[in-house]
Amino acid sequence: HHIEGRAVAKDALGNDIKVSEYLAKHLPGDRSLAQGIKGDPTYVIVTEDHQIANYGLNAVCTHLGCVVPWNVSENKFICPCHGSQYDSTGKVVRGPAPLSLALVKATVTEDDKLVFTPWTEIDFRTGKEPWWT
Ligand code: FES
Repeated sequence: HHIEGRAVAKDALGNDIKVSEYLAKHLPGDRSLAQGIKGDPTYVIVTEDHQIANYGLNAVCTHLGCVVPWNVSENKFICPCHGSQYDSTGKVVRGPAPLSLALVKATVTEDDKLVFTPWTEIDFRTGKEPWWT
């Protein structure tokens, strides 16, 4: 399907994420879910230098649509439904999932919010056009 739109990232309670507060609670390497475009569960990535990464990951498994949890000790996303695995950037490393997790663009605004917009550029993990547009 075609991902459209723009979303201010929201927490589990539906409140807009405030980036400064978020980073105070989420350490480098953190991958936690927010509500993204069309309400899709979307991972916010905290970089090693403790910033919000310029991409987020749609958490919907590309196999049959389960939400894929982040596994800290394995440093992978591991789908509980049929065992697909994705690396820390969401690149598929084990099937049955056929494709990597969809990317979204993540931008921090001047008013301390996080905005997700569609990722329409080359998928940096595969070097290919995005499969989700
Ligand atoms: Fe994720 Fe099947 S839905 S592996």
